[in-house]
Amino acid sequence: YEVGKAIPHEAAALHVTGRALYTDDLVARTKDCLHAYPVQVFVAKAKVTKLDTAPAYQVPGVVRVLTAEDVPGVNDAGVKHDEPLFPSEIRFFGHAVCYVLAESLEAARLGAAAVVVEVEPEPALIEVTDAIAAREFQGAQPTVERGDVEAGLNEAAHVFSGVFEFAGQEHFYLETHCALAHVDEAGQIFVQSSTQHPSETQEIVAHVLGKHSHEITVQCLRMGGGFGGKEMQPHGFAAVAALGAVITGRPVRLRLNRTQDLTMSGKRHGFHAEWRVGFDDAGLITGLEATLTADGGWSLDLSEPVLARALCHIDNAYWIPNIRVNGRIAKTNKTSNTAFRGFGGPQGMIVIEDILGRCAPLLGLEADELRRRNFYSEGQSTPYGQPVRHPDRIRAVWEGVHDAAELDRRRAEIAEFNAAHPHRKRAIGVTPVKFGISFNLTAFNQAGALVHVYKDGSVLINHGGTEMGQGLHTKMIQVAATTLGVPLEKVRLAPTRTDKVPNTSATAASSGADLNGGAVKNACEQIRIRLEQVAGAALGVSAADVRFVDGTAYALGREAGIAWEEVVKTAYFQRVQLFAAGYYRTEGLHWDSTTMTGSPFKYFAYGCAATEVEVDGFTGAYTTRRVDIVHDVGDSLSPLIDIGQIEGGFVQGAGWLTLEDLRWDSGDGPNRGRLSTQAASTYKLPSFSELPPEFNVILLERAHEEGAVYGSKAVGEPPLMLAFSVREALREAAAAFGPPGTSVDLGSPATPEAVWWALTEAARGH
Ligand code: MTE
Ligand code: MOS
Repeated sequence: YEVGKAIPHEAAALHVTGRALYTDDLVARTKDCLHAYPVQVFVAKAKVTKLDTAPAYQVPGVVRVLTAEDVPGVNDAGVKHDEPLFPSEIRFFGHAVCYVLAESLEAARLGAAAVVVEVEPEPALIEVTDAIAAREFQGAQPTVERGDVEAGLNEAAHVFSGVFEFAGQEHFYLETHCALAHVDEAGQIFVQSSTQHPSETQEIVAHVLGKHSHEITVQCLRMGGGFGGKEMQPHGFAAVAALGAVITGRPVRLRLNRTQDLTMSGKRHGFHAEWRVGFDDAGLITGLEATLTADGGWSLDLSEPVLARALCHIDNAYWIPNIRVNGRIAKTNKTSNTAFRGFGGPQGMIVIEDILGRCAPLLGLEADELRRRNFYSEGQSTPYGQPVRHPDRIRAVWEGVHDAAELDRRRAEIAEFNAAHPHRKRAIGVTPVKFGISFNLTAFNQAGALVHVYKDGSVLINHGGTEMGQGLHTKMIQVAATTLGVPLEKVRLAPTRTDKVPNTSATAASSGADLNGGAVKNACEQIRIRLEQVAGAALGVSAADVRFVDGTAYALGREAGIAWEEVVKTAYFQRVQLFAAGYYRTEGLHWDSTTMTGSPFKYFAYGCAATEVEVDGFTGAYTTRRVDIVHDVGDSLSPLIDIGQIEGGFVQGAGWLTLEDLRWDSGDGPNRGRLSTQAASTYKLPSFSELPPEFNVILLERAHEEGAVYGSKAVGEPPLMLAFSVREALREAAAAFGPPGTSVDLGSPATPEAVWWALTEAARGH
C-alpha cells in the first residue's frame, strides 16, 4: 500500500532548494504586470472627509488609482457584508482606503504616498475590556448549556472563580498575502491567489466585479503557510487585483509586504474569560459557568464560527455534568480577527486547562491527578450532546505519555534538583487534547475530485483542497495510488482550481485529507471498477477476481498479470471512460446553531504531551528541556507528514502560549490603536533555539478509525493544543518557588516577564 508509507512531502525538494513557486514568483513570468499598493490610513477610527487621488497621477509610472467608484458590483469583501473593500470609514489603524496601480512597485509606493486622505477621528475601542465596558458586541451570542449549573455549583464542596484574559497570535506565514489577476480576450478573469478557500475567493471576486462565478477562475498552486490566516482574508486582495485587471486590461499583482500584512490582516482572537467552577470532595467537577468574549476586531469575518468552536471545546477531555458557557464577540478597532490553527478550540481549551492548573493546589491535589479524575468515561457526552465514543483513547494517550516520558523517575529527579537549587526550578506539565473533527456547519463537510487516467497510464488528480505545507497533496497522491493499485510515480497532482472542482470548502478544520481523500478515493474507485472489467476479460476471470497491485492487474491466486499501462490502453480502445469526478460527504453529522446542540464532529482526535521546563528565578527566563508526545492520527496516511504536523503544531502552540506577544498602543496619543509589534524584531516567534533538545513523538498504535479514509484521522490542528503542557509546566515551576500547594495565576503568553511575576508572587507565598 502506498498509503501509510513514510515518504517526504511531494514538494520537499523544491521547498528546500528554493525552486518551489509561490504566487508572487509567477509575477516574474508575467508580461506587462502592474503593481498594486494600498493607501493605508494611520488612525484607529475616523470618517474619511476627503480623498484626493489626483496627486498620485503626477508620480511617473502611476497608471490608475482604484477607489470605491470603480467597483461595478458590490463594494464589500466579507461574507458577512460588513467589510467595505474601499471604505469611507476607517475602522483600524492602517485600514486601506484605496489602491494605486503602477508600472513598478516603487512607483506604486510613491503614488500611494501622494494620495491625500483627510479624516475626522472618532473615539476608538482598543482593549477587549473597553469594548465589554462599552457593550460593543457584534454577531450572535450563543450559549452552550447542559444540566443545572446553579445546582452543580451549590452542591460543590469547593467553588472557585477567576478572570483570565489571554492574547491572540499573528500567523506569520512565510509567504504574505498575494494575488495575481489576468483578464482574457473574452473578459474572463483568472486569479492566482494564496488562498485556503479558492471557491470563496472566486465568489467574492465575482460579487465585487458584478460577474457570475463561471466568469472567474481562482487557482492556488501552493501557499507558503496559511494557518487559517488565508481562509477569509485573501478575498479582498484578490478582488483588488481582479478589479485592477478588468479596469486596465493588464495583469495586476498585489502582494503585501510584511509590515502591511501584519498591520492589515487579522490574527488569532485573544479572549477575555470569566468563570466559576465547583468541585466535589474527590476533585470531580460539579459545575462550570463561564463567559467567553472573543476580541473580534473591526468586522465579523469568521468570529462566529471561531467562537462556536471555542464553546464546543471548553470541556477538552473532561466530563462537566452541569455547564453554561456564554459567548460574545467584542467589536474593537483592530484588524479583523480570523481563523488560526485550532479555530477557537485552543481558546476554549485553555480556559479549562487554566482552571485545572490553578485549582489543583487549592484542592490539595497534583494537577495530573485532578486532570485524570475528570477524564470522560464510557457513555458520557459533551456539553453540546455529542457522545464521546472512545474515551479509552484519552487514557491510552495519557498512559502512553506517562510511560514514554518516564514521568515517575524524572519527577523524583526533579524534586531532588529543586531541593538543591533555590534559584532554578524544573517541572513537568502533562496535558491531554480532545479535538472535534469536521466543520460545525454540516454543509461544509463535502468535497470533490477529478481524476484523469491518460492513455499512457499516467494519472493526474485534481481535488478541492489547497496545499499550504501541511502535506495534503502528498496524502492525496498516496490515496490515489493505493486505490488504483499503481506506484506513486504514476500519479501527479495538479494545482487547485475552481474550474476543475467547483463549490469547494475551505481547506480548514483539519479536514482536508478526510474530505478530499474521500473524494479522490471515490473517483479512483469508479475508474478501477471499470478497469477491473477490462482486465477480467483479458485475464479470463470475473471482474470481482481482479486485483490491481503496484501497477499490475492480477487474477486472484495467479502469478502472472497484465501491466496497468496495457489495461489502460485496452480500455481506451474499448471506449471505456478513463476519467471520473469523485464526491464525498461526511455522514452522520448534525448541528443546530441556535440551541448549540448536536453531533457536529465525525470523531475526536486525541493526544497528550509531557513537557519539562527549567525556570530561572532571577529573570523568569526558561528553557524547554524535553517534550514527549503520544498522538492519535488513526492509521496514519503518511507518517512522516503526520509527525511533521505534530512537531510543527506543538511548536506553533508553544509560540502562542509563551513567546508571541501582540501589543497594540492603547494610549490616547496619535498612535492609539497602532500595532507596536509589527516586525519579527518585536514579535518573537519560536526558532531553533527554543526547540526542545529532546523531542519525542509517538503515533498511537492500533488506532484505526472506522469510516474515515483508510482508517486515518485528521492531524493539522489538534497538536497545537499539546502545547498547553508547556504552560502548565511553567506554572508548576513557578509554584516550586513558593511553599507547597501554591496556586499560580499565570499570564498568557507566559513570557519570561509573566513567569517572573508569577514566581515572584509564588515566592511571597500567595
Ligand atoms: N501546516 C503547514 N505546514 N502550514 C499551514 O499553513 N495550516 C494548519 C494545518 N497545518 C498549516 C499546517 C491549519 S490551520 C489547518 S486547518 C490544516 O493544516 C489544514 O490542512 P488539512 O485539513 O489538510 O490538515
Ligand atoms: Mo485552519 S484554522 O481551520 O485553517
